Amino acid sequence: MTENFDDHPDAVDVRWWHDAVGYEVYIRSFADGDGDGIGDLHGLVERLDHIADLGATLVWVTPIYPSPMADFGYDVADYCGVNPIYGDLDVFDRLVAEAHDRGLKVVVDIVPNHTSDQHPWFVDARSGPDSDYRDYYIWRDPAPDGGPPNNWVSYFGGPAWTFDPASNQYYLHLFLPEQPDLDWANPAVADAFDDVLRFWLDRGIDGFRIDVAQAMGKDGQLRSNPQIGPWDDTAPRWQQWDAFDHRHDILQPSTLDIFRRWNKVVEPYDALLLGETYVFDAGDLARLLPGEGLHVGFWFELMHVGWSAQDVRNAIAAPLERVADRRSIGWALASHDEQRPPTRFAPAADDTQTGEGSRDGADLGRRRALALTTLLFGLPGLPVLYQGEELGLVDGEVSDERRADPVGADVTLSRDGCRTPMPWDRGPGHGFSTATDTWLPMGGRTDDDSAAAQRDDPTSSFSAYRALVKARRETPELLEPDLSWLDRDGETWPHVVAYERGSVVVAANIGSEPIELTGIDGTIVFSTAGRSGEFVDPTLEPADAVIVRR
Ligand code: NOJ
Repeated sequence: MTENFDDHPDAVDVRWWHDAVGYEVYIRSFADGDGDGIGDLHGLVERLDHIADLGATLVWVTPIYPSPMADFGYDVADYCGVNPIYGDLDVFDRLVAEAHDRGLKVVVDIVPNHTSDQHPWFVDARSGPDSDYRDYYIWRDPAPDGGPPNNWVSYFGGPAWTFDPASNQYYLHLFLPEQPDLDWANPAVADAFDDVLRFWLDRGIDGFRIDVAQAMGKDGQLRSNPQIGPWDDTAPRWQQWDAFDHRHDILQPSTLDIFRRWNKVVEPYDALLLGETYVFDAGDLARLLPGEGLHVGFWFELMHVGWSAQDVRNAIAAPLERVADRRSIGWALASHDEQRPPTRFAPAADDTQTGEGSRDGADLGRRRALALTTLLFGLPGLPVLYQGEELGLVDGEVSDERRADPVGADVTLSRDGCRTPMPWDRGPGHGFSTATDTWLPMGGRTDDDSAAAQRDDPTSSFSAYRALVKARRETPELLEPDLSWLDRDGETWPHVVAYERGSVVVAANIGSEPIELTGIDGTIVFSTAGRSGEFVDPTLEPADAVIVRR
């Protein structure tokens, strides 16, 4: 009798996302199909072949809903519509059909922690305490001194409360004042979202990326958070956030109840719940992934880790040790919220580790980014690339006058650099749009940055990422949960991060000197340096990585 995989006792445990490779599309900057200078769904449909050619199997599309764009779509005014600047439901349906034709799953971004202040629910709620929608949001009387009801702060800096003079109450917003938080303790909110989820599931989508998944439930008594650091009104937003122990505003047990409920909604559709689980403690990530709610949650530590083998290894090891089902860890180096990795890893002008200063900084940054990505692609879980990573893009240049991010007063705070439009073709405008003025500037891209220049060049970033995706997809050992660290003589290997997955070894040189990987030989499955065949001279140059089958 031939073994039927579907009859295998473990098969029930195998879900389609367990061997998926994700690709994030930041819709405003992916491809402009109608010439208004803003990316849209038509443009995305036209460029789906690029994603399929890369080998990704899941496309996460950032919010496409009607929105006043205070936070570029993460302020939703209608959860069941398409913003006319992006298209309409017909072109959305075409996207789903065309993606499926290419073997690509479609994951839509859902923003359930907050709405836009222009959402009809909030417009009504703001009309006064008697509004039917007042309790969809979190309103409270001022503290005795007239100030905010508690000490919670916004992720975007400053207090998380805005005063509404008409009703003499404050409303809560963990992000901009234009993004009021919904009250998930109100059953009507949960019911409304069940309908929203089914609306998109019935259109054939394959899952949701859930914005701010760690923060949807709030402490029932809205208790103040213990302060653990000095408060500074002028400090960057994350420093203000870190001044508190966030035990009451985020990571509430009620959040898990929401995802248990959603799990039941999506199950009949075999759809994925992929959480933006924005936490930096692996124990917190583990708590958000108990097995019956979110299927996958992103791990964010790697978006901040520096070029240090010890730090990289710790950042990878922490969630592997804590999360019960390792296949539920989402791995990413980049997103539309973070500096692009080749910029982050470019050596500073006074870099003492490499002695290279800023000379060829971007190239070294690119090689480091690819080496780290290789480490991530060997792990159990869901690896996700952000548009342009496959082209080795550095942050685009955006002058002060052109800054658009509402939380980006200067270059260190702004998210604009990672959001400039994709360079598709050679030549002026790089094929993103027929408009000369795009919503963010193209950012100083060169012809070499473009997908057209890289697609058929075997030495390009695109070719390397495509080969890496292929290696991931075609090496079954990499999808298994088991992993053991490779150390040298029982000691941590200085400047090397290496692990074994069955008979496959994944290793990266996170240092500045060549390193001999004594004892590791076999056939090269993937090499950042473009090596193939036998790994006979097992030397890794700085910022090189390999996958070897022993
Ligand atoms: C996370 C999103 O990725 C980010 O772009 C947005 O500003 C916040 N959530 C608020 O929705």
